[in-house]
Amino acid sequence: MRISDPKLVAALPELGIELRPGARMTELTSLGIGGTTDLLRIRRHAQLPELIRRLRDAGIPYRFIGGGTNLLVRDGELPYVVLQLVRPEPDVRLEENFAHVDAAADLGRMVTFCAKHDLGGMEGLIGVPGTVGGALRMNAGAYGTQIGAYVREIQVYRAAAGQMETLSGSQINFEYRHTSFALDDIMLTVKLELPSKPFREILQGIRICNEKRRASQPLNQKSAGCIFKNPPGASAGRMIDGLGLKGHGVGDARVSDRHANFFINAGQASAADMLALIADVRERVRRAHGVELEEEIILWTG
Ligand code: EPU
Repeated sequence: MRISDPKLVAALPELGIELRPGARMTELTSLGIGGTTDLLRIRRHAQLPELIRRLRDAGIPYRFIGGGTNLLVRDGELPYVVLQLVRPEPDVRLEENFAHVDAAADLGRMVTFCAKHDLGGMEGLIGVPGTVGGALRMNAGAYGTQIGAYVREIQVYRAAAGQMETLSGSQINFEYRHTSFALDDIMLTVKLELPSKPFREILQGIRICNEKRRASQPLNQKSAGCIFKNPPGASAGRMIDGLGLKGHGVGDARVSDRHANFFINAGQASAADMLALIADVRERVRRAHGVELEEEIILWTG
């Protein structure tokens, strides 16, 4: 979708917002899939309510993107514009055992920064790609660590109410790859409480997780991480692998040879290819195991 209203276009720089017309979602997502739309990059959180108000007045639908690392976007021209927070400098501020982090911060860099200041706990999250905001929305987790466990306070823009709100960690339910945030809540900043740990010890934990990840996941290929959630007590990857589906594909969308719950864009895969592969694998698992796999990735394909 293109913003054509000249008054709105002219107002954007005053709000500290950069307009990138016709941005390619292939470049904004780790899967490298998706069509085009206008991208609005927001430098100042405080201008968000005004921007949303103006978009609503102009009848322009919008969606928010973080790092684009857990997302499958539809092909063609998108029927909405995409908003993204610009990472401020600095993006992490420490105060004793608390880290105040901007939602646009890179998750891995944030974990490393805290580690260098002897704050640990999040070693397992080191190789999870994406922003802190995205990790919060999904309650990202790996190797026994979930980010939700460390959240003490979070500032969100609640689009439904049109206002900023500060929620305490206990007001949010963090479950396996799921949170109680409303779909239109926009993460702005978070306060994490982290246990003190010597840097060398944290580094050792990070190395172990990195090795495990390198050994089992296709890190150098275009993917969105695991496609399906693990069903209770089972592993989606093991089930798909067990059906001999590694390397199976639709167009350039493939089940990874390395980890069967990672689906790869091996070239010029379209969203349609990836969706067809997801549907095909889900159906095969349903027939073989009677289990209906649920997507772990977020779909912007409707
Ligand atoms: N397995 C296979 N074949 C495969 C893949 C896995 O047999 O192709 C087996 C493994 O040998 C292992 C079991 O399945 O015995 C589980 O595999 P793994 O340890 O790789 O973990 P996972 O359950 O597939 C989960 C998360 C990952 C996270 C890892 C490490 C989900 C859906 N996936 O994977 O998260 O990195 O544990 O903690 O919860 C993500 O969220 O995108 C993601 C990649």
